[in-house]
Amino acid sequence: VRHLAVIGIGAGDPDQITLQAVAALNRLDVLFVVDKPGEAAELSRFRDEIRRRHLARGGVEVVRIRDAARDRAASAYGDAVKFWRAERARAWERAIGAELGDGDRGGFLVWGDPALYDGTISVLERVRAGGRLRFELEVIPGVSSVHALAARHGIALNRIGGAVQITTGRRLRAGMPTDADDVVVMLDPSCTFAELAHDDLDIYWGAYLGTPDELLVAGPVAEVADEIRRLRREARTRKGWVMDTYLLRRRHGRRSVDA
Ligand SMILES: C[S@@+](CC[C@H](N)C(=O)[O-])C[C@H]1O[C@@H](n2cnc3c(N)ncnc32)[C@H](O)[C@@H]1O
Repeated sequence: VRHLAVIGIGAGDPDQITLQAVAALNRLDVLFVVDKPGEAAELSRFRDEIRRRHLARGGVEVVRIRDAARDRAASAYGDAVKFWRAERARAWERAIGAELGDGDRGGFLVWGDPALYDGTISVLERVRAGGRLRFELEVIPGVSSVHALAARHGIALNRIGGAVQITTGRRLRAGMPTDADDVVVMLDPSCTFAELAHDDLDIYWGAYLGTPDELLVAGPVAEVADEIRRLRREARTRKGWVMDTYLLRRRHGRRSVDA
């Protein structure tokens, strides 16, 4: 039976890869590299650097998979993502079937941790559900951008006994969740925090975490929102892409035990 490993490699700092991930990388016969249309060249350079730094032998075969293009303009967001994932599954199934023999080990490197806003596991589950390809699946956790954010700001994500919610900029547009006072926001190109009623909100923001371009800002949203927007705009102009994550915290938490 074929063996597939989904390996978390950290969110930007090549030192933030676990020993388990390095060992898994070095067991691979085939490394599948998914070329995502529109992905910043810097991100694929990071994956190359991981390979260069952590692959002890040069022997792993690299197989590139051309990813299906995603229709980001589609109005039915959910349907567009479903269609795109089905297309991806077909391409991945073809590549795995053609390049990985019985008993071989294949792997995918995943940005941050594979369990957070990453489609790799679900695409592979879809391939498996198709029933034409049998494989064992192993997931190796990685340091996520959420954990890198908390570490760089020197904070815990939760307050005593409190809940933490991880969500997206798209969802935050509906307002600050009412059932959590500490909310981590990913995938938010629109700086949605600035549009919320934010009298009582602090923000801990980080961009390009773990990289030499890292940016960090923390403070009351009312005071630092403009600065974050300016830094984000300038960085986007300079580099052409931005990856940022932030924690929003109700100063006078409604729910945490120590509020
Ligand atoms: C497709 S998700 C992937 C998340 C990834 N699996 C993880 O564990 O961090 C991409 C989002 O992750 C966040 N992100 C990933 N790397 C980051 C970094 N180095 N600095 C700040 N945010 C990052 C951003 O919110 C970005 O929009």
